[in-house]
Amino acid sequence: MQIITEPGQMQAIAEKLRLNRQCIGVVMTMGALHEGHLSLVKLAQQTAGIVILTIFVNPSQFGANEDLHKYPRPFEQDAALAKAAGVDYLFAPEASSIYPENYQTTVECSTVTKRFEGELRPGHFKGVATIVTKLFHITKPHISVFGEKDAQQLAVIRRLVIDLNMDIKIIGAPIVREDNGLAVSSRNIYLSSQERNAATILYKGICHATRRIADHETDLAAIATEIEQMIQSTPGCRTDYICFVDDKTFEPVETAESEKEYRLLLAMYSGTVRLIDNMKIRA
Ligand code: PAF
Repeated sequence: MQIITEPGQMQAIAEKLRLNRQCIGVVMTMGALHEGHLSLVKLAQQTAGIVILTIFVNPSQFGANEDLHKYPRPFEQDAALAKAAGVDYLFAPEASSIYPENYQTTVECSTVTKRFEGELRPGHFKGVATIVTKLFHITKPHISVFGEKDAQQLAVIRRLVIDLNMDIKIIGAPIVREDNGLAVSSRNIYLSSQERNAATILYKGICHATRRIADHETDLAAIATEIEQMIQSTPGCRTDYICFVDDKTFEPVETAESEKEYRLLLAMYSGTVRLIDNMKIRA
C-alpha cells in the first residue's frame, strides 16, 4: 500500500491507472477506521480493481462548537488497518494542500440539505459536498462507496454527482452494527459504558418501527412519537429528531402508502454524545 499526501501526486497516479484501464474505487473517511469503514473497502474491492482510501478530517464540515480538535486521529493504526484490508493507495493530505491560501470556491446542494443534519449543523453539508467534490477530482474514481449510516450525506452525494454530471457510480453500503444493535461510528468512543448501554434504545426504536409497519400501521407520525417516548423515558437520553422521510428528497412523510419506501431518521443524545441512525422501511 502506497501512502500519498500530495494532491498532485495522487492525481498523477489516478490518471496513470485510468490510462492503464484500471477501475478505481474510492472510499472516503475521516480516519479512526472501524469495521464500518472496512466494510466499505470490501464493497469497493468487489467492483473496482484498485481501491484508494482517503483519510482527511475535513475542517469545513465541523461547526464552531463541534469536535474538530478532539476528533480521533490514530494515523499509524489506520494505515495498518488499511494495509491489512488490501487498500492499494492511502491518500492522507494536509489541510493546507486541500484548502490553500485564498481558497474561495465551495459546493452547495440545496433542498435535500434543508432539514435534519443540514438544519442542526449549518454549513455541514456545504463542507461535505465541497470536500467530496475535491476528493473526486483528486482520486478520479469510477465508483465510490459511502455508508448508509449517514443517509442524508449519501443523498447529498447522489444528488451532487447527478447535478454536476460526474461520471461516478455511487454505491451505498449497509450499516454495520454491534451485537447490541448500536451502529458503529468513530464517535462511539466518546460513550461511557453507561451511555453506550442507554444508546441501544436507538436500535430498539428502529425495531419497534419495523414491527409496527409489519403490523400494517400507516400512521408514521404516530410511530415516530412512540419512539420519541421510548427514548425520552430512557435515563440520560433525549431525542434530537425522529422522522420518516421520502428516501430521495428527505421531505417528511406522515402517512405510509402501500408498497412505498421510506426512511426512518433518528438522532438522539446519550449523555452528551450525539448519535444518528436510520432504517429504510417498505410499507
Ligand atoms: O462520512 C465521512 O466520514 C465524511 O463526511 C466524508 C464523506 C469523508 C467527507 O469528509
